[in-house]
Amino acid sequence: MTVIPHRPIGRTGLTVPELGFGAASLGNLYHPVSDADARAAIDAALAAGLRYVDTAPHYGRGLSERRVGDALRLQPDAVISTKVGRLMDPDPSVTDDSERDGFRSPMPFRMRYDYSHDGILRSHEHSLQRLGVAKIDLLYVHDIGGYVHGEAADGYWQQLTTGGGLKALARLRDEGSIAGFGIGVNEIAVCLEVMQEARLDAILLAGRYTLLEQDALDALFPACAAAGTSIVIGGPYNSGILATGTRRADTIHYDYGPAPEPVLARVRAIEAVADRHKVRLPAAALAFVLAHPLVASVIPGIGSAARVAQTVDLYREAIPLAFWEELRSTGLVRADAPLPAPPR
Ligand SMILES: NC(=O)c1ccc[n+]([C@@H]2O[C@H](COP(=O)([O-])OP(=O)(O)OC[C@H]3O[C@@H](n4cnc5c(N)ncnc54)[C@H](OP(=O)(O)O)[C@@H]3O)[C@@H](O)[C@H]2O)c1
Repeated sequence: MTVIPHRPIGRTGLTVPELGFGAASLGNLYHPVSDADARAAIDAALAAGLRYVDTAPHYGRGLSERRVGDALRLQPDAVISTKVGRLMDPDPSVTDDSERDGFRSPMPFRMRYDYSHDGILRSHEHSLQRLGVAKIDLLYVHDIGGYVHGEAADGYWQQLTTGGGLKALARLRDEGSIAGFGIGVNEIAVCLEVMQEARLDAILLAGRYTLLEQDALDALFPACAAAGTSIVIGGPYNSGILATGTRRADTIHYDYGPAPEPVLARVRAIEAVADRHKVRLPAAALAFVLAHPLVASVIPGIGSAARVAQTVDLYREAIPLAFWEELRSTGLVRADAPLPAPPR
């Protein structure tokens, strides 16, 4: 097994490997993954030392959780995070795996948001049953905030705060049912707001601290350092572009849609520097976020055993310091972003 260093999650006493596994893909995100391929992907990840898996009820309306649980049930040292905020109601009208909310899942459920005290306790219980495990290590409040909810955000915020959602999570942590909790979101502002209301062990921040954008350095990361809150980096490729690069005929994804021209231009500039130093873009994307001391783990989206092998190879790439220094001196990464140490 590859040795992947572990890092702590806040003050929970829990540690996670710095390279983890994002299991949205195993809910059949955009395209179906067979049960056998899903299992092979997680088995390969475990063998490679990626013993932290992040899933959610939303990922294929329970499909990702079922697959993750089946593979991790007898792996006591593996760490599982899942999410709360969406309940799955039975829906007999579902008879095939045509795409719904981006997922090609045949699971006969309809999603309903619920961030209230009872909704969160129910979501935790449902996840335990779907995963078929005795304990979930980390729970993230999934997608609270305006990025997903728009004008409805205030109502869900009330459920989470005055409606007792955060109290339910604190209760689960206090009684030892979970090791810790936080939020899992694609936006910065709501992280700062939730941190005013509760002590978070970790924030799963997707796409907002990457090789492409570092606004999280302004207010969020200092607040996390002060509060003892760790960061788990979701969407380290900004949903695709930092993995695929810009030189391809297919759609280039940024934030789950086609990449806009300013983003393409910035990635082209980073690619030019990467070419000069013979660095692979996704290798740089993984190494860059891991250089920040608040980051506990980076969890790229992985959907196959082949992708596990490829990801470990990218993670192992020795990247010369001159590459990082050129990115910094040309303003392609912020001057205050920590740079990875040079290879030994
Ligand atoms: N709100 C939240 O809590 C939240 C939001 C977003 C993400 N997350 C977490 O973060 C994880 C990762 O995020 P993500 O999947 O959205 O985005 P991501 O990791 O930035 O990008 C995933 C995309 O990159 C492609 N890819 C991955 N490795 C590649 C490689 N080596 N070469 C070429 N393409 C590659 C994948 O393609 P293929 O499909 O072909 O493999 C997939 O389309 C999720 O699974 C989830 O656990 C959480």
